[in-house]
Amino acid sequence: MSALTLDAARPHMTALAEELAASGAIRSEPWAEAFRTVPRHLFVPRWLEQEADDRGITVWRERHATDEGALAAAYRDVTLVTALDPATAVQVDEAAWTGMPTSSSTLPSLMAGMLEDLAVRDRDQVWEIGTGTGYNAALLCARLGADRVHSSDVDPALVETARDRLAATGHLPHLAVGDARQGYPDPAEAFDRIIATCSVPSIPDAWITGLRPDGALVADVALGIEGGLVRLTVDQERRAVGHFTATGGRFMPARGEARTYPAPQRPQRALAVGERPTTLTAADIRAHYPLRLLLAFQLPGAELVYHVDDATGVMAIQIQAADGSWARVPLTGTATGTVTWGGDEELWKQAEAAWQWWNSAGRPPQDTFGYARQPDGRVSVWHVPDGTRWYLPA
Ligand SMILES: C[S@@+](CC[C@H](N)C(=O)[O-])C[C@H]1O[C@@H](n2cnc3c(N)ncnc32)[C@H](O)[C@@H]1O
Repeated sequence: MSALTLDAARPHMTALAEELAASGAIRSEPWAEAFRTVPRHLFVPRWLEQEADDRGITVWRERHATDEGALAAAYRDVTLVTALDPATAVQVDEAAWTGMPTSSSTLPSLMAGMLEDLAVRDRDQVWEIGTGTGYNAALLCARLGADRVHSSDVDPALVETARDRLAATGHLPHLAVGDARQGYPDPAEAFDRIIATCSVPSIPDAWITGLRPDGALVADVALGIEGGLVRLTVDQERRAVGHFTATGGRFMPARGEARTYPAPQRPQRALAVGERPTTLTAADIRAHYPLRLLLAFQLPGAELVYHVDDATGVMAIQIQAADGSWARVPLTGTATGTVTWGGDEELWKQAEAAWQWWNSAGRPPQDTFGYARQPDGRVSVWHVPDGTRWYLPA
């Protein structure tokens, strides 16, 4: 590693640690020390930054930590995208692409919040799911020592690059390649903590069995319309029980292929059948994260997408169900208090029921909701203060 760039980076490393402590993401000295000492720019020497090109198209433009002024940019509290799905990536000029990200260096405040939520103890064995750039693995090494850190990624090229960068910064953790949903590639390993930096619809069995009793995990569960970070503890009966965390953030989904996501399969949309006034607006859905989580509890299997009307250009938020039913409320234009639907009218009634429940419960934040996974995979979530419960598909 160049001593020169490291010296130049040190003030940025210190400033990032101070910023994360001031915002409350870092809550303890050992993690502050880790952020102060791990040079992010050496794990992310190149990244892709989102910008609108001169035709108004959003593109990913390449940046290098060695570019004039860019060293400081590698230490901003932002996610740095590092890889795009080759099946979707289209090069638009010599240093810009459109496409879907497949790897990134996570938002540092999100990473810090999750690491604090993980509550590691000095002798814990930790499995990080999603090695990516290796930056988070390096933070774990700085905190625990490399021999206690295991990290795996589905993309072998990312693991090899991370291995080199970790070695260059003095860390030799256990690294492995594989689809983490099937478990850690070496089944003999058992962990005290698991931290997942890609999302799953529900916690895979292999993560529960990979944890020692009383072990804990922090992961993003993607529930369709929304999802969130949960911290769960596994008991002797292999029940995983805990809650959504105050740390908010979402991750790219886990995939089976090294570099590509499967094309989404969407059912044929039902024809439009009705329109009526509604009190649940697109602005409300967009503004309130816990409300979206509630919508996901109330409408398991549904998803939320943006819809632009070809004729009017009006943008709307649309909830769509697996049976082809959909309901949409405009974000722009004059009809923001009107819902239009196709298929089953019940879809929007359920959304309104979730909105009413959330308001009548005093608009509770996400960390007032519990999450439990039974040994057979059944999942329920509940509002801790009053016990209202929703059952989610396994
Ligand atoms: C947000 S990035 C990880 C960031 C990383 N922790 C860091 O510090 O740079 C998510 C990572 O999850 C990986 N991933 C996706 N699906 C996976 C799977 N099934 N098993 C393991 N890793 C997976 C991606 O390749 C990607 O590198």
